[in-house]
Amino acid sequence: RIRGNAPAARADTVLLVGSEGGTTWGFAATLHAALTAAGHSVHVAPMAGFDPARHPQAARFIALAATYGDGAAPSSAKGFLDRLAQLDRAPAAPLAVLGFGDRGFPAYCAYAEAVAEAARARGWTQLLPLATVDRQSPQDFARWGRDLGQALGLPIELVHQPVLPRTETLRLLSRRDYGAEVQAPTVILRFARPRPTPWQRLTGQGLARYRAGDLLGILPKGSAVPRLYSLASGAGDGFVEIVVRKQPGGLCSGQLCDLAPGDSVAAFLRPNPGFRAPRGRSPLILIGAGTGIGPLAGFIRGNRRRPVHLFFGMRKEDSDFLYREDLAHWQEQGRLARLSTAQSRGPQPHYVQDALRRDAVEVAALIRQGAQVMVCGGRDMAAGVRAALAEILAPAGLTPALLKAQGRYAEDVF
Ligand SMILES: Cc1cc2nc3c(=O)[nH]c(=O)nc-3n(C[C@H](O)[C@H](O)[C@H](O)COP(=O)(O)OP(=O)(O)OC[C@H]3O[C@@H](n4cnc5c(N)ncnc54)[C@H](O)[C@@H]3O)c2cc1C
Ligand SMILES: Cc1cc2nc3c(=O)[nH]c(=O)nc-3n(C[C@H](O)[C@H](O)[C@H](O)COP(=O)(O)O)c2cc1C
Repeated sequence: RIRGNAPAARADTVLLVGSEGGTTWGFAATLHAALTAAGHSVHVAPMAGFDPARHPQAARFIALAATYGDGAAPSSAKGFLDRLAQLDRAPAAPLAVLGFGDRGFPAYCAYAEAVAEAARARGWTQLLPLATVDRQSPQDFARWGRDLGQALGLPIELVHQPVLPRTETLRLLSRRDYGAEVQAPTVILRFARPRPTPWQRLTGQGLARYRAGDLLGILPKGSAVPRLYSLASGAGDGFVEIVVRKQPGGLCSGQLCDLAPGDSVAAFLRPNPGFRAPRGRSPLILIGAGTGIGPLAGFIRGNRRRPVHLFFGMRKEDSDFLYREDLAHWQEQGRLARLSTAQSRGPQPHYVQDALRRDAVEVAALIRQGAQVMVCGGRDMAAGVRAALAEILAPAGLTPALLKAQGRYAEDVF
């Protein structure tokens, strides 16, 4: 909530916010306060409602835009590019774009880039060149603030205190260890589901509602930056489960892998609507390697009626075959129709994309029947899977990009 937001029609400065998780609104509030203190009349609004006619006094626009999966728009910016394209002409007041992203993703700040590029193509004057803030860095933000101050002829000091998400305490119920023998120590952690307060139940806040494929944010001790883990369970399962690979020297994964039953962590929910088991009865092709099996296992556990084919890549069957017993059990129960595995260690290394090629005829047939494809795991695996599916689908005139455009191809890559 922005305190003292100036009316849209009277503002000389308009801040447009593109956010999904909410943190960019916090940066906008800091910028709003600094510019207001410097004597400006500042209006803050979501990018999605952009209409320059509402701001006749505007002398400048500033867009603060986060990026989601593959350079997509965050929810509060949906439709902004269409609105810009539909304007008769670009606003007279110049625009600055500041991107918020994470260099860990290949499409770093790609949505902010798309906004800056579309503005340039429309002939919208630039107030400042595109700049970016990596992982909510207060330093990146302060540096950009100094450039903005110079452009406006004002000394601006942007001191941003990140607002930490409200966390809940999760207590560990059990852990299952895998992968030590193949240098990939991985653990399935199951936490008790915290009992939602009546308010949370009513509003759906906190961990009142969650589904497999949503993200669990964990605040490790000694860091203000949360790490995200894909949920392997839904609220209906009655527990909160994640699969964590221990990274060498990693702070959060190290702490998680050291937990004993009864220990607790500070966690919050980050919904991930782009990676949820779709509704309906069409077949589902799930593809994952390593910890990527987490959300896929969650989908299978919750499956009642659709044919599911799982492709799972691991290093060595007798060490890191995550969910092995569960998968056998789910097959007996009819929740999983078919399991194809690949092992990368051994005389004949096989990756999950090789397993796909081995079953190419069946995969192509399932996709022709309307199957949906969901891929979870590391970036290299996801790229390999895309390439294998492109080959498999070519004879049918289909591509992964086409399936994606039809909402039939979803990736959760980290
Ligand atoms: C959408 C999403 C979903 C994810 N889902 C999962 C999941 O289901 N399971 C999972 O295990 N992970 C998942 N991750 C990754 C997870 O969020 C963390 O990034 C991961 O656990 C590493 O965090 P960490 O705190 O242990 O490592 P960090 O301390 O952040 O370090 C990261 C890497 O940098 C190296 N490093 C750290 N400090 C230094 C230094 N000073 N010098 C040089 N190198 C250094 C570490 O060795 C480590 O390899 C997901 C990430 C995203 C974005
Ligand atoms: C599921 C997910 C996908 C993301 N994808 C990207 C991406 O493709 N490129 C990028 O630069 N940042 C990406 N990010 C990082 C966010 O853009 C970054 O954390 C941003 O500061 C979030 O702002 P918000 O809290 O206002 O939404 C992603 C974050 C999440 C949780």
